[in-house]
Amino acid sequence: MARVGGETHFGERTVPLEKKQGMVDGVFHSVARRYDLMNDLMSGGLHRAWKDALVIAVNPPHSDKPFALLDLAGGTGDVAFRVAAAGGAGTRVTVCDINAEMLRVGAERALERGLDDRVTFEQGNAEELSYPDRSFDCVTIAFGIRNVPRIDAALREAFRVLRIGGRFLCLEFSSVDVPGLDALYELYSFQVIPRIGEAVAGDREAYQYLVESIRKFPKPKAFARMMEAAGFRRAVFTPMTGGVVALHSGWKL
Ligand SMILES: C[S@@+](CC[C@H](N)C(=O)[O-])C[C@H]1O[C@@H](n2cnc3c(N)ncnc32)[C@H](O)[C@@H]1O
Repeated sequence: MARVGGETHFGERTVPLEKKQGMVDGVFHSVARRYDLMNDLMSGGLHRAWKDALVIAVNPPHSDKPFALLDLAGGTGDVAFRVAAAGGAGTRVTVCDINAEMLRVGAERALERGLDDRVTFEQGNAEELSYPDRSFDCVTIAFGIRNVPRIDAALREAFRVLRIGGRFLCLEFSSVDVPGLDALYELYSFQVIPRIGEAVAGDREAYQYLVESIRKFPKPKAFARMMEAAGFRRAVFTPMTGGVVALHSGWKL
């Protein structure tokens, strides 16, 4: 029987579209305190290099020129802190995330680092942003878009709040395209990551979901087409680490 709201994936499971968000929220609520440590453990520290590439692409001005970045699904603020550190005095980052627990951890860290005047944490749904049209110079989303139930709505919203001439950058797990590495990656993802999740974050299922959601995410070319459908121009992607991750870029022109 067809469902009114349609269906989507929660990991390997097919779930009603309107149920996915609550399930995703449960995952991140459960892992918030251990989230950053888990990123280091799962990626062997590689997530730092991937995020560095994102920050280089954001290229915040080093001067006191105003620069407003919106980091969607920004969680505990890892990308935001990196951009704030790379930019000059005029750089401001708004972290928007749906999960209050992830935001709480991030806001505590901003205070500890003395960055609370430059990085703000706001609760919001990437599918329905409360910001006015054309209010940001750049919009980023790192390892967040695959968790959003309506990806097309989130892309349209990112486009709406971006100023003309602004850039959208999305870092996301992708498709491994190196023979041999693909099998190794599959083995690591499904056998090792959920075990680390159980041992360190006390939640095997949350990490089982995270690896399954990577598999279900559209291939990078298909995602580039989704970006174009939302209005972005010059939609391109750069695979990193043999395609484990891709950095997607598009412009509002
Ligand atoms: C894997 S974490 C990424 C966090 C951060 N960007 C990073 O790279 O460390 C995914 C984040 O997406 C957030 N999220 C999921 N659905 C969302 C939605 N509809 N709107 C905004 N944030 C969402 C989760 O709460 C979580 O913090």
